[in-house]
This record gives sequence, C-alpha cells and structure tokens, in this order.
Amino acid sequence: MTAIDLDHLVQPDRVHRSVYTDQALFDLEMEHMFEKTWVYCGHESQVKAMGDYHTLHIGRQPMVMVRDRDQSIRVLYNRCPHRGVQLCGTHSGNTGSGFVCPYHAWSFHLNGQVRAIPLAKGYDGTRLKLDDPQASMVPAARVDSYRGFVFASLSAEGPSLLEFLGEAKVAFDDMCDRSPVGEVEVVPVCHRVVQHSNWKFFMENQLDALHPSVTHQSTGVSARRIEERVKKSQGSAPLYFHYLSTFASSFDQWDSVQTVNFPYGHGILKAYMGLRPTDPDTVEYEGLLKKAYGEEKAEEYLSRSIHHVLIYPYLSVQSPLQQLRCLRPIGPDKTLSEIWHFRLKGAPEAIYRRALWYFNLVNSPATMINADDLENWTRGQWGLQSKGGEWVSFHRNMGGDTETNGVSYSNNGTSEVVMRNQFKAWQAYIRPAVQAAVSIA
Ligand code: FES
Ligand SMILES: [Fe+2]
Repeated sequence: MTAIDLDHLVQPDRVHRSVYTDQALFDLEMEHMFEKTWVYCGHESQVKAMGDYHTLHIGRQPMVMVRDRDQSIRVLYNRCPHRGVQLCGTHSGNTGSGFVCPYHAWSFHLNGQVRAIPLAKGYDGTRLKLDDPQASMVPAARVDSYRGFVFASLSAEGPSLLEFLGEAKVAFDDMCDRSPVGEVEVVPVCHRVVQHSNWKFFMENQLDALHPSVTHQSTGVSARRIEERVKKSQGSAPLYFHYLSTFASSFDQWDSVQTVNFPYGHGILKAYMGLRPTDPDTVEYEGLLKKAYGEEKAEEYLSRSIHHVLIYPYLSVQSPLQQLRCLRPIGPDKTLSEIWHFRLKGAPEAIYRRALWYFNLVNSPATMINADDLENWTRGQWGLQSKGGEWVSFHRNMGGDTETNGVSYSNNGTSEVVMRNQFKAWQAYIRPAVQAAVSIA
C-alpha cells in the first residue's frame, strides 16, 4: 500500500476528493470502521420465533441474525465451514431447528455449532474434529441490543454498545417512548435502494439543513400550494401535506434549526416539523401516552426536539415518525440503503398510518424527495471523480459553533460542523490503520 497522508487528505475545513472515490481508502473503511464498530443488524421483532433469520452485511462480511432455541439472538457469519457456501440465500425466513448447507448437508445448531456431517466417518483420522471451532459457523465477536435494536461488532475489543451510542441512544428511546407500552415492532417490508455514490454523501446530507429548500423546492412549493387549497376548502389538510410542504421553508428558517454533534460522528438535527396536530386521532393517542406514563413524562416524550438522529457511519433514525435508514456500503461509488419503518405497539392505527405515509412519501425511492437527493449524490460522485478540483469544502460557519465536553452545537443550522465532526470520527477510525501500515513498511 502506498503511504496515505491522512493530515493532507482530511483537514479541519476541507477533505480531498479521493476520500470519496479511492478503492484503497474504501477498503480501509470497511476493515477498520464497519468491520470493527457496532453495526445495526435489525430489530428483534424481525426474528420472533425460533429459527427466524435475517441476513445482512457488516462491512463486506455476510452475516445472519437468528433466533436461537433459548430465545437469544445470535449473529453468525453466513458461511459454511466446509467449503464456504452461504447457508442462507434469502433476506429472511425460518431455518427450523438449525442450518443445513445446500451443498453437502453439513448441519448446524442455531448458535452455529456443527450438529451433523453426512458420512462423518470419512473424517476419521484426519485433523478435522467436530469439536474444533473450525467445524462450526463463526459467531460475531460481540452482540448486544438496546430497546430491541440488535447490533453486532466483529471486533472483540472497543467500546461497549452503550459507550459507542452515547447520547445518540436517544434515537431508540425517542422511538420506543412514543409507544404506550414502550416498544416498537418492525414492519417487515423494506425498501432497498442502491445509491451510485459514496456512503458519506448520505451521512452528510442527513444533517445538511441548507439543501432542502433548494433540492426539494419544487416538491415543497407544490405541496404547500395544494395544502393551502385543501385547508381553504375543507378547514384542515392531512398531515402528509405538511411532511412535504415544510421542505419549502426559507433559508433563514433552516438556519435557525440546530444540529448537535457528538463523539464518534453521531449527531442530531433538531425538530423543525410540527408533528402534534389537534385532530381526534392525535388527542386519543396523546391520552394513551398520558395514561401510561403520567402527564409530565408523556409531555417530555412528545416534545423531544428531534427530527432525526445519525449514528455514524451508517444509520439515520427518524424517531418521531418511526423511520430507520441503514447503509451497507458496496464500493467507493456504490451504497445499498435499507429503508425500514416501525409500528408503535399499543398506539392507534391512525398513528401507524402517519409513519407509513412518511415512509412512502419521503423516504421511499419512488418519492420526489428521495429521488432529488439521490440525483445530487450521484452528480456529486461524478464531480469528485473528475479532475475539475481536488477539494470538498466544509468551511461554512467554521469557528462559529459552540463546543462543550466534546459536543458541538451549531449556532447556525446550516453550519458544516456536521461534516467536520463526522470526519473527526473518520480520522479516529482510519488513523491507527494507516499508522500500522506505515510502521510495517
Ligand atoms: S460447503 Fe457446506 S456442506 Fe459442503
Ligand atoms: Fe434531502
């Protein structure tokens, strides 16, 4: 590997374009970020019954999350120890009481341990022993969950899940606390979109408050026009118009929304959408929360100022509307995103429909909102692959943010402190790998 000068590539106010395009840097990201840190695997309601499984990638590693016989959730490499064939070939399903390889029928318990091998006598006298871990599926080094959201780390070392999440764990608290029983359930339908851009475009865009009134102007303005017409003729307009019309807020309005930027690159974009109308469905729902938690707690839960929470380097959780988007990078210019939404257990159906509207109107690949973002990122990738310039600028409001105990609060919603903070984390992941490579050389 040629020496990588990280201090040159990632500077406090600008980043070299190769960080978005270079295969060697992408490989370092996979090995030293995604394949070491805690990665979201799925929600426990995706694997309710014994043998239910869900496949996913952690970095470049194919994994399977499965419900074991003892009800625990395991995360294993989706790989047969015989000749490497992937044991589960679909996104999800039920594998019964164990895994059976489709190639030569080696079978495994749900915790990955080998169960049986056909004609096992054929191994007598060889160095393959059934009690050797190499005869079993390999588990992720660590698995943990928070409020039903399951994570795994392929590294035995590093911070605990709670240390890693830090303040960003509010994403899951905020989502679950909005249920009268404190729990959510996944809606088992996921949009999968391949973005033709580097994964960092998505992560930066999530807290980029300058772009909505530009990128989403046509959608926002059209929605506002119709929303006003409906209000005039019917007295009120359904909330879903508001989901789209707020994108047309002015620059000044966006600039007044705060971002909070945490260690590890996580962050919050504070609320800017009014999501507490006074229609009968909302009144009924808020009544259920008050009954469950008491007036004061319910009010605290309903008035948390969050639009969405980013868990760097791959997750965006929009807790007030029960949405979750997860990135699975494929290459420097290719990123798979999974778009999920959740149902608040114990909440009225009308409240679920609001999450469904948002899922389809804003986050689905079929919407004008997501399509406009995707186009920007693809065009961004093309620009950074060109020789038309070497740098990506993150100068906006530099020096104008307030930093307290490692947390940066933007004094302008459109401050690029978001990206500066993400790259601080990026460097912390990548620097030890680069130093190790240099010392070997
Ligand atoms: S590869 Fe799995 S049993 Fe042979
Ligand atoms: Fe956008």
